[in-house]
Amino acid sequence: MVRLKLENVCKNFEGFEALKNVSFTVAAGEKVALLGHNGAGKTTLMKAILGLQPHDGGRIEVMGAAPGSHAARMQVAYLPENVAFHSSLTGREQIRLYLRLRGQPVELADELLERVGLEHVSRRRIGTYSKGMRQKVGLAQALIGNPALMILDEPTSGLDPISRRKFYAILDDMAARGAAILLSSHALTEVEARTDRIVILSKGQVVADDTLSGLRKEAGLPTHIRIAAKPGAADQVAAMLNAGRSNGVTVDLTCAPEDKLARLREIAALGPKVRDLDVAPPSLDDIYDHFSRRAER
Ligand SMILES: Nc1ncnc2c1ncn2[C@@H]1O[C@H](COP(=O)(O)OP(=O)(O)O)[C@@H](O)[C@H]1O
Ligand SMILES: [Mg+2]
Repeated sequence: MVRLKLENVCKNFEGFEALKNVSFTVAAGEKVALLGHNGAGKTTLMKAILGLQPHDGGRIEVMGAAPGSHAARMQVAYLPENVAFHSSLTGREQIRLYLRLRGQPVELADELLERVGLEHVSRRRIGTYSKGMRQKVGLAQALIGNPALMILDEPTSGLDPISRRKFYAILDDMAARGAAILLSSHALTEVEARTDRIVILSKGQVVADDTLSGLRKEAGLPTHIRIAAKPGAADQVAAMLNAGRSNGVTVDLTCAPEDKLARLREIAALGPKVRDLDVAPPSLDDIYDHFSRRAER
């Protein structure tokens, strides 16, 4: 079931095209990452989805309804990029306030705070919270009313790896309950394999929309192999493998993904001349750069 549908969405700011024919969908239970460098148009797109800033062309359907309509607002949660709280309120008071604003029972606050792992600090002022804790307050706010669609603008930027993992565990739980999730990030390393699909936005245009493994395959970037040779054997190993580069200790090779196994067999055949080896597939940053840059050409 499609929860969010974008068709050729365009947005101009006084002649500047911030969004150009953006099309993709997010289904129930799906986690989609919207990736793009600063200024790519992620926040602009999210604001259009929420109806906070109208788009100029194309169609946006939120649960079949128009962005910002009552029907849409009742089912959509939003975590803005720079979420600001009352620093003098405690986490518990802040969430109770949000619940009241949303017409929900304030007693739900403790359960929400526990879900995001803030129960131990819920009676402390938000002014004393770390960045990760404040993001969790934002997430607790976004969980109010079990939304059908969650729009999260760079929710994990600035989080340490452990906080990020917990954050994604909560999103997994929401997706398992059927929520559709669209979250933005400016780094592929932040979303990794934690999302079902990755949509890359570059200068307002969608330049890729696939799973991480699909993107990896399509990019076809080289794999790096670093060989540690036995003392004194590096130059000989480099020559036997036709590898240009040797620093006297290690030998570096690059090869196409489909040639990797053949290369590894050649290396293994060198026997004791090889002491160790490391195989590095293209990094997430390499893949992201590939698609972002391809669009610029
Ligand atoms: N209200 C606005 N007026 C003019 N230009 C804007 C406005 N909002 C965003 N932009 C421009 O649109 C582009 C996309 O911005 P934004 O959506 O915030 O990018 P991102 O969230 O991906 O970093 C940027 O070049 C930005 O300067
Ligand atoms: Mg932004």
